[in-house]
Amino acid sequence: MNTLFVGQQVIRLRVVDSTNNYAAKMVKMPKWIEGTAIVADYQTSGKGRNGNVWRGSAGDNLFVSFLFKPTHIPLQHSFLLSMAAALAVQHTVKELLNTDDVAVKWPNDVFVNERKISGILIENQVRGGQISSAIVGIGINVNELEFEGLRATSLNAETGSSFDREDVLQSLCRHLEAQYLLLRSKPMQILENYQVGLYGKDDARNYIFPDGEDQGVLQRVAIDGSATFVRNSGKHSYTIDHVKWCWED
Ligand code: BTN
Repeated sequence: MNTLFVGQQVIRLRVVDSTNNYAAKMVKMPKWIEGTAIVADYQTSGKGRNGNVWRGSAGDNLFVSFLFKPTHIPLQHSFLLSMAAALAVQHTVKELLNTDDVAVKWPNDVFVNERKISGILIENQVRGGQISSAIVGIGINVNELEFEGLRATSLNAETGSSFDREDVLQSLCRHLEAQYLLLRSKPMQILENYQVGLYGKDDARNYIFPDGEDQGVLQRVAIDGSATFVRNSGKHSYTIDHVKWCWED
Protein backbone atom coordinates (compact mmCIF):
# COMPACT_ATOMS: atom_id res chain seq x y z
CA MET A 1 0.00 0.00 0.00
CA ASN A 2 1.50 3.28 -1.15
CA THR A 3 0.53 5.25 1.99
CA LEU A 4 1.94 6.32 5.35
CA PHE A 5 -0.76 4.86 7.58
CA VAL A 6 -4.16 4.49 5.89
CA GLY A 7 -4.53 0.85 4.85
CA GLN A 8 -1.11 -0.15 6.17
CA GLN A 9 -3.00 -2.74 8.19
CA VAL A 10 -5.87 -4.45 6.35
CA ILE A 11 -8.16 -6.99 8.00
CA ARG A 12 -9.81 -9.06 5.28
CA LEU A 13 -13.04 -10.92 6.03
CA ARG A 14 -15.13 -13.14 3.79
CA VAL A 15 -18.44 -12.49 5.54
CA VAL A 16 -19.33 -10.17 8.42
CA ASP A 17 -22.55 -8.58 9.64
CA SER A 18 -21.15 -5.10 9.00
CA THR A 19 -17.55 -3.92 8.73
CA ASN A 20 -18.59 -0.92 10.86
CA ASN A 21 -19.78 -3.28 13.62
CA TYR A 22 -16.51 -5.21 13.44
CA ALA A 23 -14.62 -1.88 13.66
CA ALA A 24 -16.72 -0.81 16.65
CA LYS A 25 -15.54 -3.91 18.54
CA MET A 26 -11.93 -3.15 17.61
CA VAL A 27 -11.93 0.42 18.92
CA LYS A 28 -13.14 -0.88 22.29
CA MET A 29 -9.89 -2.82 22.64
CA PRO A 30 -6.90 -1.10 24.23
CA LYS A 31 -4.60 -1.14 21.18
CA TRP A 32 -5.62 -0.42 17.64
CA ILE A 33 -3.77 1.23 14.81
CA GLU A 34 -5.02 4.42 13.20
CA GLY A 35 -5.71 3.91 9.50
CA THR A 36 -6.56 0.21 9.83
CA ALA A 37 -8.98 -0.95 7.14
CA ILE A 38 -11.53 -3.73 7.64
CA VAL A 39 -12.67 -5.12 4.31
CA ALA A 40 -15.33 -7.75 3.67
CA ASP A 41 -16.45 -9.60 0.54
CA TYR A 42 -20.01 -9.63 1.84
CA GLN A 43 -22.06 -8.05 4.65
CA THR A 44 -25.14 -9.80 6.04
CA SER A 45 -26.42 -6.61 7.76
CA GLY A 46 -24.67 -3.75 5.99
CA LYS A 47 -25.68 -0.44 7.53
CA GLY A 48 -26.60 2.76 5.71
CA ARG A 49 -27.40 6.18 7.08
CA ASN A 50 -30.65 6.68 8.99
CA GLY A 51 -30.93 3.03 9.93
CA ASN A 52 -31.17 1.99 6.27
CA VAL A 53 -29.80 -1.30 5.00
CA TRP A 54 -26.76 -1.24 2.69
CA ARG A 55 -26.93 -4.15 0.27
CA GLY A 56 -24.56 -5.52 -2.35
CA SER A 57 -23.77 -8.89 -3.92
CA ALA A 58 -20.90 -10.94 -2.54
CA GLY A 59 -17.55 -10.22 -4.15
CA ASP A 60 -18.83 -7.45 -6.40
CA ASN A 61 -18.38 -4.38 -4.21
CA LEU A 62 -16.06 -2.65 -1.81
CA PHE A 63 -17.28 -2.74 1.79
CA VAL A 64 -14.65 -1.15 4.02
CA SER A 65 -14.38 0.58 7.38
CA PHE A 66 -11.39 2.66 8.45
CA LEU A 67 -10.35 3.47 12.02
CA PHE A 68 -9.30 7.02 12.85
CA LYS A 69 -8.41 8.97 15.99
CA PRO A 70 -9.45 12.50 15.01
CA THR A 71 -8.88 14.04 18.44
CA HIS A 72 -7.77 17.24 16.62
CA ILE A 73 -11.31 17.88 15.33
CA PRO A 74 -13.52 19.75 17.81
CA LEU A 75 -16.73 17.82 18.39
CA GLN A 76 -18.86 20.60 16.90
CA HIS A 77 -16.84 20.31 13.66
CA SER A 78 -17.19 16.54 13.31
CA PHE A 79 -18.92 16.99 9.95
CA LEU A 80 -15.50 17.93 8.50
CA LEU A 81 -14.52 14.26 8.66
CA SER A 82 -17.59 13.39 6.65
CA MET A 83 -16.61 16.02 4.08
CA ALA A 84 -13.03 14.73 3.92
CA ALA A 85 -14.23 11.14 3.41
CA ALA A 86 -16.66 12.21 0.66
CA LEU A 87 -13.89 14.17 -1.10
CA ALA A 88 -11.61 11.12 -0.88
CA VAL A 89 -14.24 8.89 -2.51
CA GLN A 90 -14.94 11.55 -5.13
CA HIS A 91 -11.23 11.67 -6.07
CA THR A 92 -11.06 7.86 -6.12
CA VAL A 93 -14.02 7.52 -8.46
CA LYS A 94 -12.70 10.34 -10.67
CA GLU A 95 -9.36 8.57 -10.93
CA LEU A 96 -10.85 5.15 -11.70
CA LEU A 97 -13.40 6.40 -14.21
CA ASN A 98 -10.98 8.92 -15.65
CA THR A 99 -13.58 11.69 -15.57
CA ASP A 100 -14.21 14.90 -13.65
CA ASP A 101 -17.93 14.28 -13.75
CA VAL A 102 -18.23 12.94 -10.20
CA ALA A 103 -20.11 14.89 -7.54
CA VAL A 104 -20.61 14.78 -3.79
CA LYS A 105 -24.28 14.87 -2.91
CA TRP A 106 -24.98 16.39 0.48
CA PRO A 107 -24.23 15.06 3.00
CA ASN A 108 -21.76 12.42 1.77
CA ASP A 109 -23.02 10.38 -1.16
CA VAL A 110 -20.96 10.22 -4.32
CA PHE A 111 -22.84 10.50 -7.59
CA VAL A 112 -21.95 9.75 -11.20
CA ASN A 113 -24.44 10.56 -13.95
CA GLU A 114 -27.13 11.44 -11.39
CA ARG A 115 -26.78 8.03 -9.73
CA LYS A 116 -25.27 6.96 -6.44
CA ILE A 117 -22.02 5.02 -6.72
CA SER A 118 -20.95 5.25 -3.07
CA GLY A 119 -22.28 5.86 0.41
CA ILE A 120 -20.50 6.68 3.65
CA LEU A 121 -21.51 5.94 7.22
CA ILE A 122 -19.39 7.52 9.95
CA GLU A 123 -19.80 6.42 13.55
CA ASN A 124 -17.96 8.49 16.15
CA GLN A 125 -17.10 7.51 19.70
CA VAL A 126 -16.94 10.50 22.01
CA ARG A 127 -14.99 10.61 25.27
CA GLY A 128 -14.23 13.66 27.43
CA GLY A 129 -15.80 15.99 24.87
CA GLN A 130 -13.49 14.70 22.11
CA ILE A 131 -13.90 12.31 19.20
CA SER A 132 -11.81 9.48 20.64
CA SER A 133 -12.33 7.26 17.59
CA ALA A 134 -14.16 7.48 14.30
CA ILE A 135 -15.26 4.59 12.12
CA VAL A 136 -15.44 5.68 8.50
CA GLY A 137 -17.52 3.07 6.67
CA ILE A 138 -17.46 3.31 2.88
CA GLY A 139 -19.39 1.28 0.33
CA ILE A 140 -18.39 1.62 -3.33
CA ASN A 141 -20.38 -0.17 -6.03
CA VAL A 142 -17.67 -1.81 -8.10
CA ASN A 143 -18.90 -4.63 -10.36
CA GLU A 144 -22.55 -4.72 -9.23
CA LEU A 145 -25.02 -4.49 -12.11
CA GLU A 146 -28.34 -5.06 -10.29
CA PHE A 147 -29.67 -2.14 -8.26
CA GLU A 148 -33.22 -3.27 -7.39
CA GLY A 149 -34.83 -0.09 -8.69
CA LEU A 150 -32.48 2.17 -6.73
CA ARG A 151 -31.00 5.30 -8.29
CA ALA A 152 -27.58 3.67 -8.26
CA THR A 153 -24.67 2.79 -10.50
CA SER A 154 -21.26 1.12 -10.27
CA LEU A 155 -17.81 1.49 -11.79
CA ASN A 156 -18.60 -1.44 -14.08
CA ALA A 157 -22.05 -0.13 -15.04
CA GLU A 158 -20.46 3.19 -16.04
CA THR A 159 -17.68 1.74 -18.17
CA GLY A 160 -18.81 -1.72 -19.26
CA SER A 161 -15.65 -3.27 -17.86
CA SER A 162 -14.93 -4.95 -14.56
CA PHE A 163 -12.66 -3.50 -11.89
CA ASP A 164 -10.31 -5.20 -9.44
CA ARG A 165 -11.55 -4.39 -5.91
CA GLU A 166 -7.94 -4.29 -4.71
CA ASP A 167 -7.17 -1.42 -7.12
CA VAL A 168 -10.23 0.42 -5.83
CA LEU A 169 -9.10 -0.10 -2.22
CA GLN A 170 -5.56 1.10 -2.96
CA SER A 171 -6.78 4.26 -4.66
CA LEU A 172 -9.25 4.90 -1.83
CA CYS A 173 -6.54 4.52 0.84
CA ARG A 174 -4.28 7.01 -0.94
CA HIS A 175 -7.02 9.60 -1.34
CA LEU A 176 -8.37 9.09 2.16
CA GLU A 177 -4.92 9.63 3.63
CA ALA A 178 -4.40 12.80 1.56
CA GLN A 179 -7.76 14.24 2.66
CA TYR A 180 -7.23 13.22 6.28
CA LEU A 181 -3.80 14.92 6.35
CA LEU A 182 -5.32 18.05 4.80
CA LEU A 183 -8.05 17.93 7.42
CA ARG A 184 -5.34 17.91 10.07
CA SER A 185 -3.26 20.76 8.60
CA LYS A 186 -5.90 22.98 6.92
CA PRO A 187 -9.40 22.00 8.06
CA MET A 188 -11.03 25.04 6.45
CA GLN A 189 -9.66 23.93 3.08
CA ILE A 190 -11.76 20.76 3.38
CA LEU A 191 -14.84 22.91 4.00
CA GLU A 192 -14.13 24.97 0.87
CA ASN A 193 -13.16 22.02 -1.35
CA TYR A 194 -16.40 20.28 -0.40
CA GLN A 195 -18.45 23.18 -1.81
CA VAL A 196 -16.82 22.84 -5.24
CA GLY A 197 -18.69 20.39 -7.41
CA LEU A 198 -21.38 19.82 -4.80
CA TYR A 199 -24.26 18.05 -6.50
CA GLY A 200 -27.12 20.45 -7.34
CA LYS A 201 -25.26 23.51 -6.03
CA ASP A 202 -26.63 26.78 -7.47
CA ASP A 203 -29.32 24.87 -9.42
CA ALA A 204 -33.02 25.61 -8.99
CA ARG A 205 -34.68 22.27 -8.29
CA ASN A 206 -37.47 20.81 -6.23
CA TYR A 207 -37.00 19.52 -2.71
CA ILE A 208 -39.34 18.40 0.00
CA PHE A 209 -38.79 20.85 2.85
CA PRO A 210 -40.44 20.57 6.29
CA ASP A 211 -43.30 22.78 5.02
CA GLY A 212 -43.78 20.86 1.76
CA GLU A 213 -42.42 20.59 -1.77
CA ASP A 214 -40.87 23.77 -3.13
CA GLN A 215 -38.20 24.99 -5.45
CA GLY A 216 -34.90 25.84 -3.81
CA VAL A 217 -31.30 26.61 -4.69
CA LEU A 218 -28.66 24.86 -2.61
CA GLN A 219 -26.05 27.52 -1.81
CA ARG A 220 -23.61 26.15 0.71
CA VAL A 221 -23.07 23.47 3.33
CA ALA A 222 -21.85 24.76 6.68
CA ILE A 223 -19.27 23.27 9.02
CA ASP A 224 -22.05 21.79 11.18
CA GLY A 225 -23.39 19.88 8.14
CA SER A 226 -26.49 22.01 7.63
CA ALA A 227 -27.23 23.39 4.16
CA THR A 228 -28.50 26.80 3.11
CA PHE A 229 -31.23 26.95 0.47
CA VAL A 230 -32.62 30.04 -1.20
CA ARG A 231 -36.38 29.78 -1.62
CA ASN A 232 -39.01 32.31 -2.64
CA SER A 233 -39.66 32.82 1.05
CA GLY A 234 -35.99 33.66 1.72
CA LYS A 235 -32.83 31.89 2.89
CA HIS A 236 -33.23 28.85 5.12
CA SER A 237 -30.78 26.42 6.72
CA TYR A 238 -31.77 22.81 7.20
CA THR A 239 -30.15 19.68 8.54
CA ILE A 240 -30.20 16.63 6.28
CA ASP A 241 -33.10 15.01 8.20
CA HIS A 242 -35.35 17.86 7.08
CA VAL A 243 -34.79 17.88 3.31
CA LYS A 244 -35.54 15.28 0.65
CA TRP A 245 -34.56 15.37 -3.01
CA CYS A 246 -37.28 15.23 -5.65
CA TRP A 247 -36.32 13.31 -8.78
CA GLU A 248 -37.81 13.98 -12.21
CA ASP A 249 -37.88 10.29 -13.22
C1 BTN B 1 -25.41 5.29 3.06
O1 BTN B 1 -25.29 5.82 1.95
O2 BTN B 1 -26.52 5.13 3.58
C2 BTN B 1 -24.17 4.83 3.77
C3 BTN B 1 -23.74 3.48 3.34
C4 BTN B 1 -22.46 2.99 4.00
C5 BTN B 1 -22.14 1.56 3.64
C6 BTN B 1 -20.81 1.09 4.15
S1 BTN B 1 -20.34 -0.47 3.49
C7 BTN B 1 -19.01 -0.59 4.62
C8 BTN B 1 -19.51 -0.04 5.93
N1 BTN B 1 -20.17 -1.08 6.71
C9 BTN B 1 -21.47 -0.85 6.86
O3 BTN B 1 -22.27 -1.60 7.46
N2 BTN B 1 -21.81 0.30 6.27
C10 BTN B 1 -20.67 0.94 5.66
